Amino acid sequence: MEGSRFVLVLALALTAITPTLSTYHSATLLNVRHREKVTHLHFYLFDIISGTKPSAVEVARPKGTKYDKSATPFGSVWAIDDALREGPEFTSKVVGNAQGLYVSSVQDENSLGLVMYADFGFTTGKFNGSSFSVFSRNPIMEPGERELAVVGGRGRFRMAKGFVKVKTQFLNVTNGDAILEYKVTLVHY
Ligand SMILES: *[C@@H]1O[C@H](CO)[C@@H](O)[C@H](O)[C@H]1NC(C)=O
Ligand SMILES: *[C@@H]1O[C@H](CO)[C@@H](O)[C@H](O)[C@H]1NC(C)=O
Repeated sequence: MEGSRFVLVLALALTAITPTLSTYHSATLLNVRHREKVTHLHFYLFDIISGTKPSAVEVARPKGTKYDKSATPFGSVWAIDDALREGPEFTSKVVGNAQGLYVSSVQDENSLGLVMYADFGFTTGKFNGSSFSVFSRNPIMEPGERELAVVGGRGRFRMAKGFVKVKTQFLNVTNGDAILEYKVTLVHY
């Protein structure tokens, strides 16, 4: 009897104090429901600087870079809304877009390297509305394939991590327009 009354009193006491404790919650459970999946994606990114409707625009440039004659002097910042297309032609179907920034991050005037902060979103197929996030240096002068890091994702790519193999398909060195082949490997839930 004494015992059960004690339990009742304790239960009431806990009920009474619970609201004051409820502002912060934490629960850690074993992750038994979710299985990791791997998705491979292949598409072309169109980074267009020329023309009346460029998909990459310069938004900042440091003062005192007169010595640096390149189109992307060290410290310049570009905003992008680049089309992702099925194939390397301007008539290829658009499957999504890459929105974000890149920053020219190599001090050596004879070289060029960008750090990319971009969200790659899809507008068609089963990944419509989903996107993955790239946060990575992009050593665009390196011949052959370059690798970018994927650090996250949304929608069907929630919790994604992975990498991209990038190859330059086309580059106009006069105006900077580029078409890049993207081969993506994502591990996600
Ligand atoms: C993609 O999703 C948007 C928003 O849900 C919808 O309006 C659009 O029709 C979808 N497109 C395709 C091709 O499924
Ligand atoms: C490269 O850009 C220049 C300057 O805009 C243009 O005249 C030329 O036709 C372009 N070349 C190709 C192959 O697109």
